Amino acid sequence: MNFASDNTVGASAPVLQAIVEANAGAMAAYGNDEITRRVRARFAEIFERDVDVFFATTGTAANALALSSAVPPYGLCICHREAHVIDDECGAPEFFMHGAKLTGLPGVGAKLKADDVAAYVKSLPRAVKQMPPKALSISQVSEGGLVYDLDELAALGAVCREHGLAFHMDGARFANALVALGCTPAEMTWKRGVDILSFGATKNGGLMAEAIVVFRTDLAEALDYRSKRAGQIISKARLIAAQFEGYFADDHWLANARHANRMAKALSEGLARLPGVRLAWPTQANEVFPIIPHALDRALKAAGILYNPWTELSLPEGEHVGEGEVLVRLVASWATREEDVHRLLEIASSGVSRHAAE
Ligand SMILES: Cc1ncc(COP(=O)(O)O)c(C=O)c1O
Repeated sequence: MNFASDNTVGASAPVLQAIVEANAGAMAAYGNDEITRRVRARFAEIFERDVDVFFATTGTAANALALSSAVPPYGLCICHREAHVIDDECGAPEFFMHGAKLTGLPGVGAKLKADDVAAYVKSLPRAVKQMPPKALSISQVSEGGLVYDLDELAALGAVCREHGLAFHMDGARFANALVALGCTPAEMTWKRGVDILSFGATKNGGLMAEAIVVFRTDLAEALDYRSKRAGQIISKARLIAAQFEGYFADDHWLANARHANRMAKALSEGLARLPGVRLAWPTQANEVFPIIPHALDRALKAAGILYNPWTELSLPEGEHVGEGEVLVRLVASWATREEDVHRLLEIASSGVSRHAAE
């Protein structure tokens, strides 16, 4: 059983079917085809306004390109210190930003607070020797599995406006956050001040389907050239776009995300009921962060269950991982089966009882 990430499973059937259908015949290359045009129009419908859309094959490419258009080479981009852009992309954003820097701030569950961002921006010296802040990047869902609510997004948007920062959202788990909040894509993005979005579909049923959705036309100006230079203008673009047709059709993407979130909730509630187990913070989307005894960790691993240990950097004040404990991350996906969650909980329950008897 694999709870290591939501990209350990393949693509969902409607996405694969859409690729098969798009595969037939010949069409214009490099995105000049009717499927890509249809999908661009669909993005505009979904976001209830004109948007510029650029496709990418990885979330790293989408983030790096989005940030490169938002931050000049001499600028600073603020993010959480555990953000994927700063921690897990091998410097790609900085590489594509041509010298601009990412700077990471702390925050519980890998979430940033508007007040902290504002205080940090105000604390920066303003001289030609120092890089001026030019953008804020947040992850929705956060790397700690938490979801920014609409008020928190609005507050961050207001800080960005006040201080002239471009507001980037890494939406690798956009759908999971959206269904958790029960709002519209527009409400979770540009209506709260988001300027540019990395819209991820790969983790939620896509094969390799990422898009940069731009709400500020000036940020889109050179993105096609940047994309080409990054090798992200895809010759058979219709096969990338087709994935989004399958993804959006009949609200498949929302159903997938709801399922993943429901599985994570069941997992989270079951684990939290076990003696010696507590959640580092609440489960709000499709990721669960329990602090578990080593004995339980051993029992789960012995049963072949895959998941990852997690950093303790963003624990709430007063919380800590004791000796004999470990903080781990378990991720549910669109393909997680209910019986896998039950089986994991059974194994965990007997692991805990055995530990108590020892
Ligand atoms: C928060 C976040 N952003 C972006 C990504 C995209 O990364 P990749 O380049 O592997 O598609 C991931 C994947 O793990 C992620 O968790």
